[in-house]
Amino acid sequence: MSRVLVTGGAGFIGSHVIETLCRAGRAVTTIDDFSTGRRENLAGLRDAGHEFEVVEGSITDPEAVARAMTDVDRVVHLAALPSVARSVERPLDTHHACATGTITVLHAAVKNGARVVYAGSSSAYGNQEARFKQEDLREDPLSPYSAAKLTGELYCRSFARVYDLPVVVTRFFNVFGPRQPADSPYSGVVAAFCRALIRGDAPRIDGDGEQSRDFTYIEDVVDGVLRCLDGDSKGCVTVNLAYGDATTVNALYEQLAEHARAGLGLSEVPSPRHADPRAGDVRHSLADTARAREVFGFEPQVGFVEGLRRTFEWYRGTIGQRSGSQRSGSQQSGTPQSGATESKS
Ligand SMILES: NC(=O)c1ccc[n+]([C@@H]2O[C@H](COP(=O)([O-])OP(=O)(O)OC[C@H]3O[C@@H](n4cnc5c(N)ncnc54)[C@H](O)[C@@H]3O)[C@@H](O)[C@H]2O)c1
Repeated sequence: MSRVLVTGGAGFIGSHVIETLCRAGRAVTTIDDFSTGRRENLAGLRDAGHEFEVVEGSITDPEAVARAMTDVDRVVHLAALPSVARSVERPLDTHHACATGTITVLHAAVKNGARVVYAGSSSAYGNQEARFKQEDLREDPLSPYSAAKLTGELYCRSFARVYDLPVVVTRFFNVFGPRQPADSPYSGVVAAFCRALIRGDAPRIDGDGEQSRDFTYIEDVVDGVLRCLDGDSKGCVTVNLAYGDATTVNALYEQLAEHARAGLGLSEVPSPRHADPRAGDVRHSLADTARAREVFGFEPQVGFVEGLRRTFEWYRGTIGQRSGSQRSGSQQSGTPQSGATESKS
């Protein structure tokens, strides 16, 4: 029995985790209800000869989770409804997926004696004085999303104590990279800006744009998750998995505008359009990454600048092809992009 269960494997982060595990020759199962995940993110894995199974179902359903847990000794628990804005609109759905889903997964993991890596969120820190968010800071959940993710963390801590379950809570900080949805109202800010600039639309910045985020490239996050998965820590350990540097949303726009000018051969790109600040958004988010380095040897290898270059190129290759015919028209108009620019955490 040596199989990894990745919950939410059809999603942005999950699909990258699965791809890396499969390439390393490991047997993988995912459970996903495809609420935000995409089937095409998993396409081809079985055809490529990998030992990969999909259970279509919800992590809130104990029977589906028990099926997915067959032969599993390690779990990467990513399934969630990950958006501050969506949680403000639909707090109960967010609670079910993030909190009820997590206790259901943890309960099944106990039966298997499986090690669990739980995707926590930097939103746990909320707004507080300390510049660097260190894992022992008091939590300050501002949004229903943050409260639900934190509830998942509390269950992790409790299950480690009561059932001796080995758990690592990995707090992610604004993950970005290829395959992150760019066309949803809940899209992350990097994806939304790439899409807007490539289509010649004006990116939307919520608030004054001086809010800052610790943008972390997907490959660095996957590396960190696998280090935690294969580590031998006991009890519940909480670590930040992040790049460890902060960039404002305005500076992010400037850097992507530069990629757009260079990559698309444009002299001008649309200026951003400012909208009201979003409810529940934190002002500054910057990780202290010392613990992840000390306990699991985590060190981001790709980083923000190179990650941003790769990400822009990826969107240019996918969105560019589809919208090439529209670009010259919409560029002139500089129409505001309808998708949001969630500085997700
Ligand atoms: N992307 C980020 O910047 C970020 C930051 C902090 C934390 N996180 C956390 O990382 C995890 C993955 O995020 P992501 O960006 O890949 O999101 P995503 O939306 O791309 O992936 C989530 C996946 O979970 C699935 N899912 C949702 N509810 C489900 C349910 N009830 N049962 C089964 N599957 C369900 C979705 O279909 C999707 O495939 C989430 O737990 C999120 O809270 C992400």
